[in-house]
Amino acid sequence: MMKRPARILVTGGAGFLGSHVCERLLLEGHDILCVDNFSSGSKRNIAHLLGHPRFELLRHDVSFPLYVEVDEIYNLACPASPPQYQQDPVQTTKTSVHGAIHLLGLARRTGARLLQASTSEVYGDPVCHPQREDYWGHVNPVGPRACYDEGKRCAETLCMDYRRRHGLCVKVARIFNTYGPRMLADDGRVVSNFVVQALTGRALTVFGNGRQTRSFCYVDDLVDGLLRLMASADDFCGPVNLGNPVESTMLELARKVIALTGSGAAIDFAPLPVDDPARRRPDISLAQQRLSWQPAVSLHDGLEKTIDYFRGLLPPEPPQPPASRPPAPGWLAVGQAPSPSRLRH
Ligand SMILES: NC(=O)c1ccc[n+]([C@@H]2O[C@H](COP(=O)([O-])OP(=O)(O)OC[C@H]3O[C@@H](n4cnc5c(N)ncnc54)[C@H](O)[C@@H]3O)[C@@H](O)[C@H]2O)c1
Repeated sequence: MMKRPARILVTGGAGFLGSHVCERLLLEGHDILCVDNFSSGSKRNIAHLLGHPRFELLRHDVSFPLYVEVDEIYNLACPASPPQYQQDPVQTTKTSVHGAIHLLGLARRTGARLLQASTSEVYGDPVCHPQREDYWGHVNPVGPRACYDEGKRCAETLCMDYRRRHGLCVKVARIFNTYGPRMLADDGRVVSNFVVQALTGRALTVFGNGRQTRSFCYVDDLVDGLLRLMASADDFCGPVNLGNPVESTMLELARKVIALTGSGAAIDFAPLPVDDPARRRPDISLAQQRLSWQPAVSLHDGLEKTIDYFRGLLPPEPPQPPASRPPAPGWLAVGQAPSPSRLRH
C-alpha cells in the first residue's frame, strides 16, 4: 500500500464499487477526489463521506477532459449492469474509450499511476474454462453487450499503449462478478435481483434453465485486491483477474438466497438474454502469485451481509391491526407479500 498520504482520484466513486474504494482509501489516510456523473451511482452511497475533511466530490462526465493534480487514479466510471449500460450504449462506449483517453492523458501529465477497472466481460462467452489472463476471449462485437465488452477491451488496449508509448504506470484489473451492500435494488444484477425479490416475497427470476454459472466475489475482498494491485511493483501492469473462483449455478444461488432470507418465494424461469455467457470462473493464480491475494469471504457470509443491507432499505412493517378488525387501507394483510415499491431507493 502507498505509504504517504496520496491525492487519489476515484472516477465512478459514487457507484457500488467506487464508494467502497473511496471509503477504504480514506481509512488509509489519503485525500480523495470522487468524480461521478451519477448516471448509475447514487449520492446516498457516499452521503456518509461528504463531511470528511479529506473527501471531495465533483460531478463530471469522464468522457470529457479533466484537469486536476493527483498521484493515483482508480478509473471505475462506467455502468456495470447490463440494463444500465444498454440504456445508452453510445454513451457507455464513450465512457470507456473517451474516459480512458482523458484519464490516461491526465496520468501522463501528472505522472500518476492509473488503475483501470476492466471486466471478465472481455472474455465474452468463453470457450476456455476457467478463464486465464492469456485467453483472448470470445466476444460478439455487434451484439447488445458489445458497447460494454468492446469499450472495456479498447480501454485495456489504450492502457497498454500508453504504457508502451509513454512509459505510464498502469494496472488493469479484470473484475469478475462482485456483490455486496450499495448495489442498487433495481439495477438488474443477479444478486441484488434475487435478494430484493426474496425479501419482497416475489418469485426469483432465473434466466434459461439456471445451469449457467457465475463466480461471486464479496466487495471487501475485491476492494482489497484493487488496492494491492495499485500498490504492486511498477513493472506489473496486468491484466490480472480479480474474482472469486468458487462457481455457482444461478439455480444454486437462487436457492441459497431463498434459504438465507427465510423467504417462501418461488422460482420463475425467463428466456436467456442475448449473448449471456454460459460459464464464468476466474483463474486467479496470477493474483495469488503477484498480489498475494485471494478472496476470504464465503458466499454464505457475503450474502448474509448483502441481505442485511437490503433488509435495512425496507421500511419497518406497520403494526398489525387487532385480529377482529379488517386491515386499514394501505396496510399489508397478514401473509400478504410486501410489494417492491416498499424498498427505499
Ligand atoms: N460490480 C461488478 O461486478 C463489476 C464487474 C466487472 C467490472 N466492474 C467495473 O467496475 C467499475 C465499477 O462498477 P460498479 O459495479 O461499481 O458499477 P456502478 O454502476 O455501481 O458504478 C459506476 C459509477 O460510474 C459512474 N459513471 C458512469 N458513467 C460515468 C461517466 N461518463 N462519468 C463519470 N461517472 C460515470 C456512475 O454514475 C456510477 O457511480 C465499472 O467500471 C465496471 O465496469 C464491475
